Amino acid sequence: MDIQIVDVSARDGLQNEPNAASLSVDAKVEYISLLMRSGLKRIEAGSFVRAAAVPAMANSEAVARALLPLQEANPDIIFSYLVPNLKGLERAKAIGAKEIAIFLGLSEQFSRANINASVDQSFIDIQPVIDEARTAGMRVRGYVSNVFGYSDLEFNPDVVAYRSQQLLNMGCYEVSLGDTTAIATPDTVATLVSTLRVHSVALHQVALHFHDTYGKAIQNVETAYDFGIRTFDASTGGLGGCPYANSPKGNLAMEDLVQWCRVHGHSSPVTNPDALYSAKQFILQQLGKPSP
Ligand code: HMG
Ligand code: MG
Repeated sequence: MDIQIVDVSARDGLQNEPNAASLSVDAKVEYISLLMRSGLKRIEAGSFVRAAAVPAMANSEAVARALLPLQEANPDIIFSYLVPNLKGLERAKAIGAKEIAIFLGLSEQFSRANINASVDQSFIDIQPVIDEARTAGMRVRGYVSNVFGYSDLEFNPDVVAYRSQQLLNMGCYEVSLGDTTAIATPDTVATLVSTLRVHSVALHQVALHFHDTYGKAIQNVETAYDFGIRTFDASTGGLGGCPYANSPKGNLAMEDLVQWCRVHGHSSPVTNPDALYSAKQFILQQLGKPSP
C-alpha cells in the first residue's frame, strides 16, 4: 500500500466538538464500525485523559470495551488510545489496549496548557509510560505537537528532528508530527522533511498530522509525499482540533486525503469510499453539523 492513514476523527475530531460530550457509547461505536467498513485499519478510538480536561473523551473506556468484540473479529485493525501519564496507561491496560499514543508539545505555552508540564519535564515523565506500555505488550505511537511553531515558538526543524529521534529512541515505533495550529506551508514542510533526512530520522517511522484551518493541508501532504513521507493522520468529516491550542480548527479531512490518493494513483486503506461517506454523514448528523 502506498499511503498509510491513521483516522483520528473519533479522538482529535470529537475532542473539540461542543456537542461531542453528549455522544453515546453506542453512537461512537456505530461510527467507528462505519470507519472500519471503509477499510481503515488504524483508528484512534479515544483518550484516557482527565475527563474534566476533555469531556468528549470521558466515555472512552466504555467505547473501548464495546469495541473488544470488533477487535477480536478483525485482528488486523489497530485501535489506539491517547495516554498522557501512568494513570492513563492503567486505564488503557484495563481495557486490553494493543496500542497507545503518547503526546508531547514543543511549545512551553502549549505544553503547560495541554498537559500541565514543561516541555523538558514532559519528555522525562513519559519514559516510564512508554516502558510500562511496551512491557505490557503494547505498541506506542508518539505525537510531537507544534512542529511548525507556535505563538511562543519559532519553527526550528533541527529541534523537531532531535525530539522525533528522541521519542523513537525512547521506544515509540512511529512519531506523528503535529501541525497543531495549521501553520505549515509546502515550503516549511519541505524544509522539515529535508532536515529529518539530514539527521537520519527514518522517514518510514514518521507520520504527518495536519490541521487545515487555512486550506493548505492537501498541498502540505503532496509536498511531504514528494519528500518521502508515506503516513498521514486524517479526520473523517474534517472534524478536529485540540481544545488547548490557540485557534485550532479541523484536521485534514479524510475525504480530501482519499480523493488525493485516488487522483494521484496511490493506493490507500480506504477500499470502500461509500462506507466512509456513510461514516461522515452519520457523525455530522450526530453532532448536528452541516458538512464542512
Ligand atoms: P493535572 O491536573 O496536572 O493532573 O493534569 P494531576 O496529576 O495533578 O491530577 C489531577 C487530577 O486528575 C487527579 O484527580 C488525577 O487523578 C486526575 P483528583 O485527585 O483531583 O480527583 N488524573 C487523571 N484522571 C483520568 N485519567 C488520567 C489522569 N491523570 C490525572 N490520565 C493531565 C494533567 C495530563 C492529566 C491533564 O492535563 C490532561 O488530561 N490533559 C489532556 C489534554 C488533552 O487530551 N489534549 C488533547 C490531546 S493533544 C492534541 O490534540 C494534539 C494532537 O492532536 C497533535 C497535534 O495536533 O499537534 C495529538
Ligand atoms: Mg491534532
